[in-house]
Amino acid sequence: MKILVVGGGGREHAIIRALKQSPQCTEIWCAPGNGGISYDATCKAIPATDVDAMVAFAKEEAFNYVVVAQDDPLALGMVDALTAVGIPAFGPDKAAARIEASKVFSKNLMKKYGIPTADYAVFDDPAKVLAYVEEKGKYPVVIKADGLALGKGVLICQDHAQAEEAVKEIMLDKKFGASGNHVVVEEFLTGPEVSVLSFCDGKTVKPMVSSMDHKRALDGDQGLNTGGMGTVAPNPYYTPEVADRCMKEIFVPTVEAMQKEGCPFKGCLYFGLMLTPDGPKVIEYNCRFGDPETQVVLPLLESDLLTVMLATTNGTLEETEVQFRDGAAACVILASGGYPLAYEKGKEITGLVNGQLPGGGATVYHAGTALQNGKLVTAGGRVLGVTATAATLPAALEAAYAASDAIHFDKLHRRSDIGARALAALKARD
Ligand code: AMP
Ligand code: GLY
Repeated sequence: MKILVVGGGGREHAIIRALKQSPQCTEIWCAPGNGGISYDATCKAIPATDVDAMVAFAKEEAFNYVVVAQDDPLALGMVDALTAVGIPAFGPDKAAARIEASKVFSKNLMKKYGIPTADYAVFDDPAKVLAYVEEKGKYPVVIKADGLALGKGVLICQDHAQAEEAVKEIMLDKKFGASGNHVVVEEFLTGPEVSVLSFCDGKTVKPMVSSMDHKRALDGDQGLNTGGMGTVAPNPYYTPEVADRCMKEIFVPTVEAMQKEGCPFKGCLYFGLMLTPDGPKVIEYNCRFGDPETQVVLPLLESDLLTVMLATTNGTLEETEVQFRDGAAACVILASGGYPLAYEKGKEITGLVNGQLPGGGATVYHAGTALQNGKLVTAGGRVLGVTATAATLPAALEAAYAASDAIHFDKLHRRSDIGARALAALKARD
């Protein structure tokens, strides 16, 4: 099969490297891809959000299957457009992608079907938001833009002044554009967070191994929210008992709810969960693989990724095996200093040969890299993800950090405590 992956970050690189292991995969392309991905796939510079150009290209090159990995093309209906011209594609259609693209849609869905989540109210009038927050008088309070906002549309407000500022940013200044026409105001929940990615074919849901993201820029969960500075899998808080409960109370009800609403979900459904004192609750749904969760989940997948993906498209997931290996994986993100705010680009990356570590021991997933006169340079905030797998989490973390010590570029920033909380949880459990 000749396959196209749409996107250009570390997640897409991890998907490509997993797909390449499939005996059915004979040729793989990525659009737009990036410098490091070009060692593993033929890259084509079409923006991931250009649906018309992507569909025209997919027809021209006669791809047998297209994996739409990024959220915005899914929300724009790229899967619908590909399907309409007879090209099967991995991912939800536009109607099902609303589970991520509209928080109002997903919150109302959870309420209607009794899926546990934070209490909330929806507003389109800034004055009413503030009146509601004042009346509740409970802080912190969480204010979220309705639509996609590059993971930055969630503001946790410690007092009324911060709530006013959040409403101004989202609804008046329109920092996230039309995404801020509506806001969701939510109660603040506490507890460990778990990411569970799952394969869905519209009827059946098969969860993957759990993982833990590290969203803040700095050690000790300090600094600004980022796309994610590192991940570990499995997540030690996600015990078999918790997993059982999530399957019954959250995963199956969500897939059934989407079916009943007439928009069955096919593709990868990402459950962002918080294990609160009242049980597991949904913090967010994403309609795609997580980044950098994918970089620790797929290296532990034993089954053939392409076979499983095709089963989600064809509706045959129930009879398809989805098996994970024992052991653990850790991914450390190497970022450009300053990220998620302003950072410099074009810094030469050293320590890699053809995009990988010559000594092995870890896999390097490229997120923000470019090739300039044959040399790899930085080209984004998150530059590389270094993933190691091992029998145990401490060994995986040690290997990921040791491998990333061999990679250099000017102003490189990484967290030094990825996995620390997971290790503490493991210790407490033993
Ligand atoms: P999101 O972009 O929806 O993943 O939200 C970003 C982060 O904000 C989440 O990973 C949580 O840590 C936090 N968050 C979102 N909603 C809530 C909530 N209701 N209570 C507490 N924390 C939240
Ligand atoms: N790592 C969080 C996300 O992919 O949304």
